[in-house]
Amino acid sequence: MTHDKIPLAGVIGAPVAHSRSPLLHQHWLSMLDLPGYYIPMHVEPMDLETALRNLPKLGFVGVNITVPHKEQALQLADHVSDQARRIGAANTLTYGPDGEVHADNTDAYGFDRNLRQHAPDWDPAHGPAVIFGAGGAARAVIVALLDAGVPQIRITNRTRSRAEALKQQFGDRLTVVDWDQADEALEGAATVVNTTSLGMTGHPPWRVPLDRLHPDAVVTDIVYAPLETPLLSAARAKGCQCVDGLGMLLHQGVPGFERWFGMRPEVDTATRAAVLR
Ligand code: ATR
Repeated sequence: MTHDKIPLAGVIGAPVAHSRSPLLHQHWLSMLDLPGYYIPMHVEPMDLETALRNLPKLGFVGVNITVPHKEQALQLADHVSDQARRIGAANTLTYGPDGEVHADNTDAYGFDRNLRQHAPDWDPAHGPAVIFGAGGAARAVIVALLDAGVPQIRITNRTRSRAEALKQQFGDRLTVVDWDQADEALEGAATVVNTTSLGMTGHPPWRVPLDRLHPDAVVTDIVYAPLETPLLSAARAKGCQCVDGLGMLLHQGVPGFERWFGMRPEVDTATRAAVLR
């Protein structure tokens, strides 16, 4: 009889009840017939440090971090990956043998893998990319697109100063376009990404006209509730290849799962179904 500990992982957020990550990781654990549990944990910001320091003593091998803790988790970590540093936030923590916290960010990876899975002939080098929004999600998308080799990123945001700050950090391949002229940014774009909350259930509707959008463009939305956002259905009507945002969530979970539980899971139709349950 062995006395190996059962590995525990989970997601920390506030709120966290809406998180689909428990469905995702429990699905993979059961598909791969691995021992382990993945638990949603509601933790307030003032308690984050205590929680992170004590979880290894309870048998946790790592955790995902979600809103509003992604920046604080990066600050608290003992080791930070290049991706997490560039994105300025952590979404995947792994504990070392002495409980030290290794912070990573797999959102850029998840974004890239989702596009390549569902738009296999997407060629990032083919032309400029347009990003709507300049929040935390936009930072991960910028890193993904720069690494994928896009020649230019046009970033447009209601609050222009946030877009300017991203240009400041990420450099010359970024161009800021005024929110009033957001539709003009679409001229000649090969890749279009919404990272704003526009079009999300319970949020204001999408309102940027797509007259200048070319049918060759690949269009994706970070929003996945609804799966078919107003942006995606309008772009689809123009003949564009469209990729919904759920796959980014699924793919960003892969590296953490592999580190914590020891096997690399698949992202397939059964995975999607498990999370949409
Ligand atoms: P996240 O970290 O998930 O990206 P966020 O930092 O709150 O979340 O960013 C949300 C994005 O949606 C921002 O780009 C925000 O624009 P502002 O920077 O001007 O706030 C954008 N957004 C939210 N509501 C919007 C609205 N009604 N019109 C236009 N943009 C909106």
